[in-house]
Amino acid sequence: MSLAAPPADAAQPIDDPAAIRGADPALLGAALRASRQRTLARLASYERALAPTGMTVPYSPEVNPPLWEMGHLAWFQEYWIARNPDCHRGIDAPIDAPRMPSLREDADRHYDSSRVEHTARWRLPLADHAATRDFLDRTLDRTLDIMAAWRPSADPLHAPPYFAWLALMHEDMHGEAAVYMANKLSIPLDAGRPRAREDGDAEGGVMAAVEIPAGRCEIGSRAGACAFDNELPRQHVELAAFVIDAAPVSNAAFLAFVEAGGYEQRHCWTAAGWEWRQRHSAGWPRFWRRNGPAWEQRWFGAWEPIVAQAPVCNVTAHEADAWCRWAGRRLPDEREWECAARSHGSRAGRGAGHAFAWGDVWEWTATEFAGYPGFRAYPYREYAEVFFGKGYRVLRGGSWATQAHVASATFRNWDLPQRRQIFAGLRLAWDLD
Ligand SMILES: [Fe+2]
Repeated sequence: MSLAAPPADAAQPIDDPAAIRGADPALLGAALRASRQRTLARLASYERALAPTGMTVPYSPEVNPPLWEMGHLAWFQEYWIARNPDCHRGIDAPIDAPRMPSLREDADRHYDSSRVEHTARWRLPLADHAATRDFLDRTLDRTLDIMAAWRPSADPLHAPPYFAWLALMHEDMHGEAAVYMANKLSIPLDAGRPRAREDGDAEGGVMAAVEIPAGRCEIGSRAGACAFDNELPRQHVELAAFVIDAAPVSNAAFLAFVEAGGYEQRHCWTAAGWEWRQRHSAGWPRFWRRNGPAWEQRWFGAWEPIVAQAPVCNVTAHEADAWCRWAGRRLPDEREWECAARSHGSRAGRGAGHAFAWGDVWEWTATEFAGYPGFRAYPYREYAEVFFGKGYRVLRGGSWATQAHVASATFRNWDLPQRRQIFAGLRLAWDLD
């Protein structure tokens, strides 16, 4: 099978993953400034909501202390750019090279995520709001001063703009985490919702599916552009024929499973899924509740009627697997997802006439997270390699809260199958006999 180039979306360069991965320093500088404005706006929302508790939140394995998150963003950018003596070498920078001093004496002790384990972050004497904002401001100023001397490179993986791209992706990924943390913590945030499709049927079913014939498909990031190590090397894979739905499973379609007693039917669940369902006494997706005859969903602290045609969100991989068994279908393999997205897809709402819309919820796949054959770790080793082979499941696509320039058809997200604070749903696939 020969696949045409992905359809071009009418995105501004600052929003376009391909343009941003080209790593022009001027574009990256503008994107870093815009990203920081979003970070500070979210910080302000947290400050308003958490003023009574002094910005503290109860311990949870699903969140970080908000001020730790903010200080960590400043630390990451400074660590990889201003403090990195080998920044000019891009992915060839040695990982253990000593760093230059930070603007904050406590930066590595407090904000290095590989040194400070999750529970310890609650016990740290973290900088207060004003000092954290100052750290964010001064590190960004320093980054932009350094970047002013950079030139565009035809090989950005081996040039300093790689680290600016990495810091940008990092800040925007933490930005999405701040959105789902706010949702979990019932912090009011002006963050939107997944969009409802207009072409579903009355029960929330999807009107179309995409048939992909057996053949060869190319996956992975292109050469000559910034990429995460886990997206490389680009390669051809052989796939059997399959069919994949044109859109993720809707709330209405998932509700049919709930109302049919799917959460009580053992045969719908994997052994691990049933154990999870029993332990949590789960009877429907997180943040749902029944209100008389109606169902509601909690968004950022407010209960709202469930939107039938919007994709189901905040479900675990266990629930996704169970829904598939109940429906007689399966989750796609991540290679199938990328193949369909590259040949037929567009991020939802950004391109007309595409059969495979994505980008409103992350989509669980059937694939356990691992490196592609020929994987080579890049200097930020804690990003992906440490999660390989440890039971993490790949998610593809992106949610409505994912910054546009992060979401690409090659991007691989991952999480544990029991995680449900993330904006994740599912899409059905099946074999073509
Ligand atoms: Fe991080």
